[in-house]
Amino acid sequence: MTSTSAAPAVSVRPGERAVAVAHPNIALVKYWGKRDETLFLPVTGSLSMTLDVFPTTTAVRLIDGPADTVLFNDRPATGAALTKIEKFLDLVRAHAGRTDRAEVVTANAGPTGAGLASSASGFAALAAAAAAAYGLDLDGRALSRLARRGSGSASRSIFGGFVVWHAGEGDGAAGDLSSYAEPIGGGDLDPALVVAVVAAGEKAVSSREAMRRTIETSPFYRPWAESSVTDLAEMRKAVARRDLPAIGEIAERNALGMHATMLTARPGIRYLSPHSLAVLDAVLALRADGVPAYATIDAGPNVKVLCTRADAALVADTIDGLGDFVTTRTAHIGPGVTVTGGTR
Ligand code: DP6
Repeated sequence: MTSTSAAPAVSVRPGERAVAVAHPNIALVKYWGKRDETLFLPVTGSLSMTLDVFPTTTAVRLIDGPADTVLFNDRPATGAALTKIEKFLDLVRAHAGRTDRAEVVTANAGPTGAGLASSASGFAALAAAAAAAYGLDLDGRALSRLARRGSGSASRSIFGGFVVWHAGEGDGAAGDLSSYAEPIGGGDLDPALVVAVVAAGEKAVSSREAMRRTIETSPFYRPWAESSVTDLAEMRKAVARRDLPAIGEIAERNALGMHATMLTARPGIRYLSPHSLAVLDAVLALRADGVPAYATIDAGPNVKVLCTRADAALVADTIDGLGDFVTTRTAHIGPGVTVTGGTR
C-alpha cells in the first residue's frame, strides 16, 4: 500500500542540502484555467492520480553567493526556466524571512514539457526541498499551497494515490488558504495507467499560455468549467466506490471536453496529433472488445490510458503494436513527496 501523506518536515542545518523526490500526477478531472494568475487559484477543482514513474529529484542548499544557481538535468538553467525558479525561491524566502540565495540541482527522470506532468513533479520537489532548506515547518496542506504557486498541478504531487485539489473560495488570502490539495484514499483500487508516448519533445505552447488563451477567447470554456464541477463530484463518488469504469468514463469525457475548449480558443490550440488519435482509436477498439480502458490527455499529444492492473499488459501491447511512432510505459499509483537531509 502506498503512503499518501506528505513527508514530515525535515530541517537541515545551514550549508546542508535538502533532497526531495516527487512524482508526476495525471489529472482525471482537469485543472484548466486560473481565476487568479498570481496566487494560482484555479477556476475549478481537480482530481488526480500520482504515478510511480518519471520522478523529479531536487536538492536545495543555501549558499553565500549573490544569486541563485540552478542546474537542471546537468545543465545550468537560464532564461524563463531560471526566472520561474528564482521567483519561487523568492516566495519561500519571504515566508521564511530570509535572504540567502540557494543552489538548486534538479533532474527529471521523464521527458520535460511534453505533457507528462514534469512541472507537477518539479515544483512539488522544489517546494519540499526549498521549504526544508529554508527551515519552514509546513504540513502537507501548507506544502501543497506552496507548490501550487510554482505550478498549479504541483499542489497534487505533494500526496500519493488519488488526490483532490480544491478550487477554494474567494479571492486573495481567503482563496489562497482554501485552495489546497489532499489525498482522498482509493489507492487500493490499484489501477494501471499506460502512458503512450508519441512525442517526447517540448510542446510549442505551454499549458500556462494555452489555459490563459482558452479562458479569454473560447466560447466553450464556461460550459466546460461548469460540467467539470459535476465531473469532480461524480468522480469523487466513483473513487469512493472503487468503480473503475465510471472513473474512466468521467476522466475521458472531462479530458476531451478540455481539448474542445482549446480547439475553440482564438487562435485555436491543438495538442492532439494524428498519432494521439490513433491511440484514441485503439482505446475505443479495446473497449469494443470488452476491455475497460479509458483515455486522458494533457497539454501535449501523449495519451494516458487508465485500465486495471490485470489488463495493463494487453493495453500496452495493443498500443505498442500500432507502430514505431509510439512507445509505452506502464505506471501505477505512486507515493507523495519525500524529503531527506544530508551533507554534501
Ligand atoms: C492539462 O499545472 O502545468 O495538465 O499552473 O500554469 O503551471 P500552471 O499549469 P500546469 O497545468 C496543468 C494542466 C493539465 C491538467 C492538470 O494537470 O490538471
